Amino acid sequence: MKKILFFLFVIATVTTTFADEGMWIPMLLGKNEADMQKQGMRITAKDIYDINNACLKDAVVLFGGGCTGEYVSKQGLLFTNHHCGYSQIAARSTLEHNYLANGFWAKSFSEEIPCPGLTVTRLVRMEDVTTQVLEGISNDMDEKERNALINENIKKIGDKAVEGTHYKAVIKPFYYGNQYFMYINEVFSDVRLVGTPPSNIGKFGGDTDNWMWPRHTGDFSVFRVYADKDNKPAPYSADNQPYKPLKHLTISLKGAEQNDFTFVFGYPGTTQRYITSDAVELIANVTNPVRIALRTIRLDHYNNAMNQDAAQRLKYSSTVASIANGWKKWQGETIGVNRLEVPKMKREFEQKFQQWANDKPEYRDVLPQLAQNYATLKPLELKRTYFNEAVMASDFMKRAYAMWQLESILDNEEAKAHCEKLIKTNEKYFTDFEKHTIVDKAIFIETFTYMWQKGFAPYLDKKCHSKADVEKLLSNVYEKSMLTHKDKVISFLKSYNSKKKSKIRKDPAVDLFNTAHSYTFGEEYKLGELIDLNNHRDTYRTAQDNISRLMRIYVKGMMEMQPDVNFFPDANLTLRVAYGHVDGFKPKDGVSYKPYTTIEGIMQKENPDIYDYVVEPRLKELYNNKDFGTYTNSKGELPVCFIATNHTTGGNSGSPVINADGQLIGLNFDRCWEGTMSDILFDPEYCRNITLDIRYCLFIIDKFAGAQNLINELDIAK
Ligand code: ARG
Ligand code: GLU
Repeated sequence: MKKILFFLFVIATVTTTFADEGMWIPMLLGKNEADMQKQGMRITAKDIYDINNACLKDAVVLFGGGCTGEYVSKQGLLFTNHHCGYSQIAARSTLEHNYLANGFWAKSFSEEIPCPGLTVTRLVRMEDVTTQVLEGISNDMDEKERNALINENIKKIGDKAVEGTHYKAVIKPFYYGNQYFMYINEVFSDVRLVGTPPSNIGKFGGDTDNWMWPRHTGDFSVFRVYADKDNKPAPYSADNQPYKPLKHLTISLKGAEQNDFTFVFGYPGTTQRYITSDAVELIANVTNPVRIALRTIRLDHYNNAMNQDAAQRLKYSSTVASIANGWKKWQGETIGVNRLEVPKMKREFEQKFQQWANDKPEYRDVLPQLAQNYATLKPLELKRTYFNEAVMASDFMKRAYAMWQLESILDNEEAKAHCEKLIKTNEKYFTDFEKHTIVDKAIFIETFTYMWQKGFAPYLDKKCHSKADVEKLLSNVYEKSMLTHKDKVISFLKSYNSKKKSKIRKDPAVDLFNTAHSYTFGEEYKLGELIDLNNHRDTYRTAQDNISRLMRIYVKGMMEMQPDVNFFPDANLTLRVAYGHVDGFKPKDGVSYKPYTTIEGIMQKENPDIYDYVVEPRLKELYNNKDFGTYTNSKGELPVCFIATNHTTGGNSGSPVINADGQLIGLNFDRCWEGTMSDILFDPEYCRNITLDIRYCLFIIDKFAGAQNLINELDIAK
């Protein structure tokens, strides 16, 4: 019965938002204020975003290009996730100073490590610039014309807004281009690594536990932003001083319990809330399964190699982390979409929309036209998916691609620079070649063969009648290509000049790549066989342009049809607020999850033989002595993570999770696997964000690392 009721509820509200669904614009949070306060919030929308006074938004930053961080001291100390700092930590690590393995804690400012290339961006203010951006736009313009004019307007508006300042302007479309907001940002580029736990805390559970609950990952790292003597952004200089943020977060050690209000303030990357039933089908049941199957092949090989020795573990671990992250998420997403019958729900809504639109010329044709364009797009999208996940799966083919690019470079200097880069990539490929060749060759052959079996490499049909034929052909390509012979490829690149151009395509690997590329994008190609003369790339682009134009109209119509609904705009890597409450969930029949975990779970998971579950002796010692300091909950337990109903997505990693009083209680770092369809539709029964409890974070800094210098800097509520 409950299920039926829930289903009815779902249909009724398919375009209104669910409780807790939504990633809201800070400037417009006034619209949510009453609801947030009803759910328990004791601060105001103005405490969160205010252009006239320092407010919480001044403490929240875009960390690098795709994570969130927050200031926690008046000296520019910044918290983010371990996996957000990972590439910086790895880049600063050597065998001697292996910060990934052993952690790192600066005991003074002078020990903090510069991280060239890393930036931290603060939002100064935002503004609705829709009218200015759409100036001169008329309905009879085609998308190209329209986009060109919009880009011109954007450039003008942005330049004018930051004239004479050190700020940068970013203007982004919302609701598929029905609205535009400008973000005036301040970008800091002197950012230094201050502290990180060892990976067996910061990445405890590894990819095995990734996207999963119950979770025990201490996913945090600590950085500091530096500024010039006027507290303004400046490139790295030894003379720079710790940045004094307008606002830093106060930390609460009280935690949050079942049903407590929380909100997440950060930079969610992408959601697709308003797409049609066809688009959902395409993602969940057409492309996701292909991506998953092909990544399974790759992961099996990498994992196998990683289990053989430590050197291979090191070599593949970051590749595997990124391949596995999407692989696992898409599985959860597809299951969730189908469990919730999202395509069916969307079709039912589309019928209602059509009835409403039938007498409105502006909207009447939008859904049939969207359907038509998705029909065009679907086979091309599938080809592209195979190309990205199979053709580009091996290092072998990636290098073939780079050679193929060389062929099209006309400028001599440019070609030379490209060769130099390629020499480096190739040299890297051949270090520990013997082991890597086994893995990479197998991946090349298996992914390509899988693609052929599914009918997406018909250009092999002429020469191959069976799987064994295909495997043999691919194996020959591998053996005969110069790309598997170090001396040949390096000397070719070293002596490369335009006269050697014709030799490139004679290489069987480059030829195979070219054929696969031509098949996918439908461009004419000279060598190999001509399969398809349609220019798929143009067809694809036109369909995409049409879809973006039609979606703009469709979303506008949806909003007109339901004037009382507060629609949240899809995530687009701009600052948002998501709010909800602490809550467990029931992932499947007979199973019920509690909303928080403790250090007990770390000890239960401990297994010295499994890499992901090795526990530091020091952590065990603290555990055995119950030496938890002031970081326990009301039951005397040391909490590690908790889950809540906040609507988050990739990019929200590192986001502050804030309590009813505006204090920091944790760092967002993941979502529960069963709810990863929330990028498409949020289901309050299943969707949970996973937060590192700030008490575990401080316990590690204080008790585990003994970094009292950092604890002393923090502002901990009494
Ligand atoms: N799933 C989280 C996110 O989407 C964490 C990924 C990093 N961790 C990992 N074990 N691969 O970014
Ligand atoms: N781990 C994700 C990130 O890096 C956050 C998890 C999610 O997708 O919600 O942003």
